[in-house]
Amino acid sequence: MNDRMTTPWGERVLARFPEDPRDRLRAWDASDEYLLRHLADRQVPLSGTVVVVGDRWGALVTALAEHRPAQITDSWLGQEATRANLARNGVGPGAVRLLTTQDPPPERIDVLLVRVPKSLALLEDQLLRLAPAVHGDTVVVGTGMVKEIHTSTLNLFERILGPTRTSLAEKKARLVFCTPNPASVRPDNPWPYRYTLPGDVGPVSGRTVVNHAGVFCADRLDIGTRFFLKHLPAGPEGGRVVDLGCGNGVLGTAMALADPRAEVLFVDESFQAVASAEATHRENGAPGHAEFRVGDGLSGVPAGSVDLVLNNPPFHSHQATTDATARRMFAGARRALRPGGELWVIGNRHLGYHVQLRRLFGNSRVVASDPKFVVLRAVRR
Ligand SMILES: C[S@@+](CC[C@H](N)C(=O)[O-])C[C@H]1O[C@@H](n2cnc3c(N)ncnc32)[C@H](O)[C@@H]1O
Repeated sequence: MNDRMTTPWGERVLARFPEDPRDRLRAWDASDEYLLRHLADRQVPLSGTVVVVGDRWGALVTALAEHRPAQITDSWLGQEATRANLARNGVGPGAVRLLTTQDPPPERIDVLLVRVPKSLALLEDQLLRLAPAVHGDTVVVGTGMVKEIHTSTLNLFERILGPTRTSLAEKKARLVFCTPNPASVRPDNPWPYRYTLPGDVGPVSGRTVVNHAGVFCADRLDIGTRFFLKHLPAGPEGGRVVDLGCGNGVLGTAMALADPRAEVLFVDESFQAVASAEATHRENGAPGHAEFRVGDGLSGVPAGSVDLVLNNPPFHSHQATTDATARRMFAGARRALRPGGELWVIGNRHLGYHVQLRRLFGNSRVVASDPKFVVLRAVRR
């Protein structure tokens, strides 16, 4: 859906990525508008290096493009949306520097705008990474919806950068004002986290998982993933396996350890996730050929080239978009699999993935189930 956001810098046409005609969700929210209004009303000087962290679909950098900001994001989809939104609004590709959370941050930051991320851990990691570039005169303003800004959020700004206060709420959004104190002693960055897996999870029993900030279940093994690890397929010997939505890469690493001849492709739309998967794979000295790719599901994977896809689809964010993501992942798997190839999916029982699989593949079998989870298998005919 294309839509128009009115900003103090003019109107911007914005869309999410990938564009989905059934998805009526806008590519910005009241917290983006509040921040932009504040910057204009208070005539905040947008000179020097302007850095925007966590801009969801690029609304902020598209509005502020004339100030040549840098954007830092963990989301490949967010970065693609930004590219498309800049082009849509006639902004040349050089005007905004597109950085990921894994790139070295700018050396000096004069204006730091933070769209508060859903993950507090990601905020902690990002503020700690950016803090050395912040100086006593850096303008730091955060923004988010009221329900996303907690005392713990403010404490992070305070602990890492300096004294912090919030604005009044407007349209359920709130701003965060932080005055950097270069003399304050910053805590060490605890990320990435490592944890040891339990002894009952097959080939990865007792192994270590590496998690960069913000990845799914970064500080403990998800109970669904644990259940899946206990029921993984023996695997096509020497086959091509995809860990789709790999997170920390524990599923693909288990397959690689079980079959040294397997070729495993790890895919996620989060830069932090793919970096974690690579680190987990390396940490465990997993044999065989592995590839690590940031992207949207299986797009770019040739049709009929894959023997096995493992998938624990995302289910946390907005229901409409997550259903769509699972559907797109299943459809992508059907296209990427060779005839006879298999998609194995774990999900909460109530999500009803078997209905979607049956519709797409014409079959779906329960491999294992407990009161909460079900592992399903669909075969490409
Ligand atoms: C429920 S987590 C599963 C992580 C890991 N496989 C596990 O079982 O612990 C779902 C993962 O899908 C990723 N994801 C969401 N949308 C995606 C997309 N369009 N393409 C690829 N990965 C995506 C998320 O970043 C997240 O890491």
